[in-house]
Amino acid sequence: MNILITGGLGYIGSHTVIECINNGHNAIIVDNLYNSKIEVLHKLNKFLNKDITFYKIDMQDIKELENVFKENKIDAVIHFAGYKAVGESVEKPLKYYENNIGITINLLKLMEKYGVKKIIFSSSATVYKESKILPLTENMPLGVTNPYGRSKLIIEEILQDIAFSDKDFKAVILRYFNPIGAHISGLFGEDNNGIPNNLMPYIVKVAKGELEYLRVFGNDYNTKDGTGVRDYIHVVDLAKAHIKAIKAFDFSKNINIYNIGTGTGYSVLDIVKNFEKATGIHIPYKIVERRSGDIGEYYADSKKAKKEIDFTAEYGILEMCKDAWNYEKNRG
Ligand code: NAD
Ligand code: UD1
Repeated sequence: MNILITGGLGYIGSHTVIECINNGHNAIIVDNLYNSKIEVLHKLNKFLNKDITFYKIDMQDIKELENVFKENKIDAVIHFAGYKAVGESVEKPLKYYENNIGITINLLKLMEKYGVKKIIFSSSATVYKESKILPLTENMPLGVTNPYGRSKLIIEEILQDIAFSDKDFKAVILRYFNPIGAHISGLFGEDNNGIPNNLMPYIVKVAKGELEYLRVFGNDYNTKDGTGVRDYIHVVDLAKAHIKAIKAFDFSKNINIYNIGTGTGYSVLDIVKNFEKATGIHIPYKIVERRSGDIGEYYADSKKAKKEIDFTAEYGILEMCKDAWNYEKNRG
């Protein structure tokens, strides 16, 4: 298949490009380098021994984006492009709605115009309403608390509406849990410059000596050790889930939604301990106040993805920690 990968030079996109090519597909990448670097393309080309078609395009410019559809026969789209910083979305909601929703509408208009009927969309576990009942299944109540999450939910709803209006349209919505780790080669990973917000990017900076200690946001949640529990998934497993999701285009339902997680929850202190075990590096931490907006615990019910698209995560928490560190220490 010729697959258009929007945001294909980003963290999850770059790993998915590798899986697409390794599974015999052709990847066409669109990215505006807002949160990625052109070096990723050079590394992909070298690693895969290919010359991947790349367009440096801001998808907010529909005319430029249309050239991609004119110049390529596209069979399906994997849509990663978007902004993802929750805190920033609270401060600059319009920036998030304009980009995340605006570029998706541009993409969907062009898909309609050029008869492209298949899309895999990057949604997030953040669309679920806080629930006392765990694990989270795909049919549990939805509810969002910030503009980033709302942009994901709105896009899910737009896809539902299009699917309702066009019986040939097929969308696979993947609700990612917490992707961490990096490519086994050590060549691809998450580039965090400045002070990161998320847990693993923060831990690797502490390991590197760039930050003094980890702030653990609260130890008074109703969880096994009081710290927040999440379902972390290796980014390579997550990338592979997109290849598995391709088979859902052949299902009779035209919208298929899957949780992509491991089904196991780890606390912040579990992650610290596993990171220390995987790398031999001590991670000093201090318990501080809860982070506003955080939920105590959530993890995926991953049975639907297993049953319908045969997806099961293979990598464990030690590999996630080891690979995250391997990438960070080598990237200078
Ligand atoms: P990322 O920021 O590394 O990748 C997104 C890519 O999209 C970047 O390379 C960026 O330059 C590009 N982009 C953004 N706006 C664009 C535009 N207007 N035109 C062209 N390119 C544009 O993010 P990621 O972690 O790889 O996430 C990929 C997708 O998965 C995002 O939609 C994100 O919301 C979603 N997601 C991520 C996580 C996570 O924890 N990383 C969790 C759940 C969902
Ligand atoms: C965050 C996003 C969410 C996104 C998800 C995927 C927020 C509020 N939510 O979720 O929308 O889908 O990433 O990656 O940003 N923690 C610390 N110290 C730190 C950082 C985090 O203790 O320095 C704790 C948090 O309180 C939480 C856990 O670690 O319990 C994971 O946090 P994080 O990596 O930021 O992810 P989420 O908050 O789950």
